[in-house]
Amino acid sequence: IWIEKASMAKSNGRRVILFPLPLQGCINPMIQLAKILHSKGFSITVIHTRFNAPKASRHPLFTFLQIPDGLSEAETRTSDVTLRLALLNRRCEPAFRDCLTKLLRSADSETEEEKQRISCLIDDSGWIFTQPLAQSLNLPRLVLNTYKVSFFRNHFVLPQLRRERYLQLQDSEQDDPVEEFPPLRKKDLLRLLNEERKVLDSYSIMILETTKASSGLIFLSCEELDQDSLSQARQDFQVPIFAIGPSHTRFPGSSSSLLSPDETCIPWLDKQEDKSVIYVSFGSIATISETELMEIAWGLRNSDQPFLWVVRVGSVNGTKWIETIPEELMERLNENGKIVKWAPQQDVLKHRAVGGFLTHNGWNSTVESVCEGVPMICLPFFWDQMLNARFVSEIWMVGLHLEYRIERNEIERAIRRLLLETEGEAIRERMELLKEKVGRSVKENGLAFRSLENLVDHISSF
Ligand code: UDX
Repeated sequence: IWIEKASMAKSNGRRVILFPLPLQGCINPMIQLAKILHSKGFSITVIHTRFNAPKASRHPLFTFLQIPDGLSEAETRTSDVTLRLALLNRRCEPAFRDCLTKLLRSADSETEEEKQRISCLIDDSGWIFTQPLAQSLNLPRLVLNTYKVSFFRNHFVLPQLRRERYLQLQDSEQDDPVEEFPPLRKKDLLRLLNEERKVLDSYSIMILETTKASSGLIFLSCEELDQDSLSQARQDFQVPIFAIGPSHTRFPGSSSSLLSPDETCIPWLDKQEDKSVIYVSFGSIATISETELMEIAWGLRNSDQPFLWVVRVGSVNGTKWIETIPEELMERLNENGKIVKWAPQQDVLKHRAVGGFLTHNGWNSTVESVCEGVPMICLPFFWDQMLNARFVSEIWMVGLHLEYRIERNEIERAIRRLLLETEGEAIRERMELLKEKVGRSVKENGLAFRSLENLVDHISSF
């Protein structure tokens, strides 16, 4: 559908260059943004790493340019995402500079009719070498950030909190709020600071500086989800800020998926009753232990509700897939559930049979759930997920929080509370209202819609 719409868009003679971070949670939003800008008449060039390269054949209207990323086979397989990002930032710069310089030169040397002006570079806030490079080439750079606004603007305080040794925490303080980083609780912060992310502390400073020096900041959020933080972010960064809303609502579908979604999910869902299924997925990075796999399996089984469970290959530490689940339990799981390696998530959440989402609360998953009005059970693993989970469970009150207890009884209880009890009905009603609010924002004349129009005007002004 989007190809039809996009091919109707008249070219405005301008090209935008995009450079996503090679993570599923960053590629999806960047490709969505590419589709949006293409529909507004911009030509699109995506520069990407060899590692986690997006599937170019799925986007025939864009130009894809692959650069060498310098990662060894072992480095591409490491489960340490932070280390990999640090390496990519160090090793991609020469090839990226070369590629960008050539693009700018060839745009200048084209014949008058073919000449297409390169308007700007849009890349992820996690690339820290692109701002000085773009500046030296006189090319405006816009930053796309894939977190919730409140996480992005507050996470710069983490190095300071780490220095202040926030880690020494009494049991009685676990649920206290973190004043410097609302609405986190101290136990969330403790987990966050315990993550081996010290390497990110020095990055933080550079991300802050390069964002402030950029020509604008784009968030996939909207006033309705991030009102206070957006006005504060405008003061913090002093650059134009665009909150264009959940981008997948404009061009639905998971066409930028790096893994192949199991399409048998949808016919299976067709056979289930309305709002009866619990969908379980922890995104593209989080891993669990074998014990946690078993606890989730038993929790799902004991809840007696149908479930669709995504277990990525390699996401259970020390095993290949789900071969450690005993045959007898497997038989019982198969009675009312389905386990897949990757799902067409956006279509799943849209399906009338799905009544709840047991999620790690990555920002994409969180907004996809909000946009489809699916209440959540929050099981955050790391980084921004802790904050998203607090918003879901305590600020918007559209989900339950497992409080990090990956235990069969807790999981069973949460599923039953959400899907079968009156508490769940109230949560569902609030979710319906939030869905409508966000839905209005992305529709014509809504705040996110208008912010997108402003973004297009901004890019056209370069
Ligand atoms: C990462 C970080 O972990 C997250 O905290 C941050 O907010 C964004 O980057 P990830 O863990 O992959 O992302 O989670 P999420 O942001 O939810 O993105 C996952 C994407 O993969 C979603 O767009 C989701 O629709 C898609 N997905 C997930 C599928 O298409 N199929 C699946 O089976 C699971």
